[in-house]
Amino acid sequence: MLLKIENFGLAAFFLMTFLGAVTLSTRAQTSEKQDLETALRLASLLREARAVIGSQQDVINDPKGGDKGLTGDFVLDIARERYIEVNEVSPLYDGQDPREATLIAAQMTAIREVMADNQTTINSEGIAFKGFVPAVFARLVNERFYQLVGDQAVVKVTAPPHLVRNRKALPDEWETGIITDRLASEDWPKNDIFAAEAAFGNQSAFRVLVPEYYSEGCTACHGGPKGEIDVTGYPKEGGKIGDLGGVISISLLR
Ligand code: HEC
Repeated sequence: MLLKIENFGLAAFFLMTFLGAVTLSTRAQTSEKQDLETALRLASLLREARAVIGSQQDVINDPKGGDKGLTGDFVLDIARERYIEVNEVSPLYDGQDPREATLIAAQMTAIREVMADNQTTINSEGIAFKGFVPAVFARLVNERFYQLVGDQAVVKVTAPPHLVRNRKALPDEWETGIITDRLASEDWPKNDIFAAEAAFGNQSAFRVLVPEYYSEGCTACHGGPKGEIDVTGYPKEGGKIGDLGGVISISLLR
């Protein structure tokens, strides 16, 4: 069954579930609602942590070096505050769905470990641009998350196929289809999320795609002129503000 959710709005999801999907049993409804919530919360914590890395680029790229204090806990403390504003709960709380708690805790561990692993890069003297950009941070966190709990869930930041820089970010067949036919189509409402029961490899899964659009801060690298080499060494995509630039893909395995 396919679901289309407006602007992270769980209200819209409930409505569709109760009015539309008469075939769903109560238990299936409960578990899909929980799945969606968990998927969106994983996307949310990743985004908030990634935003901290974005806001700290000047510090990261300061060639002065020395301990900059950019630890995982530093990142998580700021990310947590923003997360609470968006989700109205802490990342971890009493009474939380146990699988969600496991997954969010694993994501937090991944964030701490990625920051720990990159201290030498971040603090090194004499190097201005470190290449520790938000997308790299997010990819490393998702890779670590996969090592920790990849038998339960997979989080990936992907993009429309023609925009993908790192091959590891290439969308799979299912993602490619939904991105091309729906998220990237003219009439797909901005910020609407796509969620469905779908196979992940040969496993059944609940899969959620959260679109992300280029904002002003992205165009220095992903904007124009198309083909010009950006500060990271990649050719720019010629993207415009508001274009679909990426997709956070969350798969909760059954
Ligand atoms: C400083 C240059 C820079 C800026 C600014 C930047 N990116 Fe990127 N982006 C990169 C690089 C480099 C990669 C490849 C990262 C890797 O190796 O995984 C990337 C990868 C991505 C990916 C993952 C898919 C892929 O192509 O590998 C997405 C999605 C993405 N960027 C979206 C954005 C968005 C949205 C913004 C603005 C909010 C943004 N980027 C800002 C440099 C940048």
